Amino acid sequence: MPPPYALLFVLFLLTASTKAFVLPRLNHHRLPCRLHNDVVNLDELDPGLDEGFYIIKSFPADADFGFRRNKSFGDNVVFDNRARPELTTPTNVTLPVALMVLDPPTYPSLSAARKACRKGNVILIRTSQNNSTRIRGRAGDRVHPADTIHIQTRLSNSFYPSLTYAKPAFDLPVIYEDDEIAIVDKPAGIVTYSHRKGGHGRMTVRAALPYCLRPPRNSNGLRQILRRPSPVHRLDKATSGLMVIAKTKGAMIDLSKSFAERSVSKTYTAILNGLPDDDGMADDDGYTLINQPVVGKEAITKWKPLQYSKSLKANNNILTMVEFQPKTGRYHQLRDHSANALSCPIVGDTEHDGGTESALKFRENGMYLCSNKITLPHPTLVDLPSPPPDAPYSFHRSDDGRILLSAALPSIPEKFNKLMSREQQRAEKYSSPS
Ligand SMILES: *[C@@H]1O[C@H](CO)[C@@H](O)[C@H](O)[C@H]1NC(C)=O
Ligand SMILES: *[C@@H]1O[C@H](CO)[C@@H](O)[C@H](O)[C@H]1NC(C)=O
Ligand SMILES: *[C@@H]1O[C@H](CO)[C@@H](O)[C@H](O)[C@H]1NC(C)=O
Ligand SMILES: *[C@@H]1O[C@H](CO)[C@@H](O)[C@H](O)[C@H]1NC(C)=O
Repeated sequence: MPPPYALLFVLFLLTASTKAFVLPRLNHHRLPCRLHNDVVNLDELDPGLDEGFYIIKSFPADADFGFRRNKSFGDNVVFDNRARPELTTPTNVTLPVALMVLDPPTYPSLSAARKACRKGNVILIRTSQNNSTRIRGRAGDRVHPADTIHIQTRLSNSFYPSLTYAKPAFDLPVIYEDDEIAIVDKPAGIVTYSHRKGGHGRMTVRAALPYCLRPPRNSNGLRQILRRPSPVHRLDKATSGLMVIAKTKGAMIDLSKSFAERSVSKTYTAILNGLPDDDGMADDDGYTLINQPVVGKEAITKWKPLQYSKSLKANNNILTMVEFQPKTGRYHQLRDHSANALSCPIVGDTEHDGGTESALKFRENGMYLCSNKITLPHPTLVDLPSPPPDAPYSFHRSDDGRILLSAALPSIPEKFNKLMSREQQRAEKYSSPS
């Protein structure tokens, strides 16, 4: 079925069904990753002693605190203990007592103050000794005039609880989200997952997910919620585009199975250096099949050209924007097939571009490969939802009755069209007869 008819069929299904639609909940499509708690901007707070902890209160132990000169003590600065003589003496103020005096609402009793010290969230700076080293305050520490006390607390703007790291500094737009799964738009140059630091290396999709996605509501019966949302598959660091994320163990199992059984269809857009040849084998819709092993395993890719641009730097003086539909999922399959089956490496693919003179000229803007459409069986939906008309995703029912979710990037990354038009303009400028 040619694509336009497929689209009409989807529209027909969406409009003709009389079932009560269940809207997937928690959609905030097209919104970039937002901070959960707008009140606290972590960048403006001083970090505490531990990762993920920030200084939220700071008290100088000065005159306001109760230190005064007292003639009975040789005019030395001592603590005015008249308010709580049972707790302290003028020359012996312990940290818990200091906390009670400084912040009575938070530390209403000595035991509450001692407990805070035991938790390790009270920081003492011996300003009185001209020592700015921060030490973890213990219940037995004494506070002297001019010392500084900091209170640290764990802060994260994550939707998921108890993260020990701050939000990674890149945007991860959410294209689709419900209680079971999500689809996000991975930027180029970001890795999916890192094995460093137990997988919580900062600049990874996995680390960013708890800041972008909401935990499922606890209404899923036996479908156990994953402690953190987790990517179901990988995209190369240099590749951008749609990534499928599981939020429950059930979704992880179902989606992994769908990927393994090849019931997930993915569409990529790439720019190739050169003019790929279809050997006259294209079908009526313009697609050609590549069936050539990648590292010894069967690998199949459907491709068709979308657009050509002249280029002074490219092989054959042509850049070709192509659509890829990988039918198998081999490591670097599209990159390998472009370079080896089509003899036109993906622009910016430093590993497969052969390092030719032309290839080197195209290396400064990363790779031009983007996963821009995906269709997969939804792991749990039974009724066909009806998303808002401008949503970047849609649903339809497959022949075997499953609900298929299709998501698409609203547009391919800007750099793709920029490269095509820039190269075309340059070629026209310099090759026009003068
Ligand atoms: C100075 O210390 C003595 C002994 O603790 C106390 O009785 C007195 O009230 C204090 N004076 C002032 C002004 O705080
Ligand atoms: C200070 O007071 C604490 C009890 O609050 C006591 O255990 C400690 O021995 C005292 N230290 C001094 C130097 O008086
Ligand atoms: C801290 O520094 C100030 C000014 O430099 C000095 O007057 C004071 O004696 C010093 N205090 C200590 C405990 O070293
Ligand atoms: C400052 O305090 C820290 C922690 O107690 C200590 O290790 C360091 O030697 C002190 N520095 C000075 C100059 O007294």
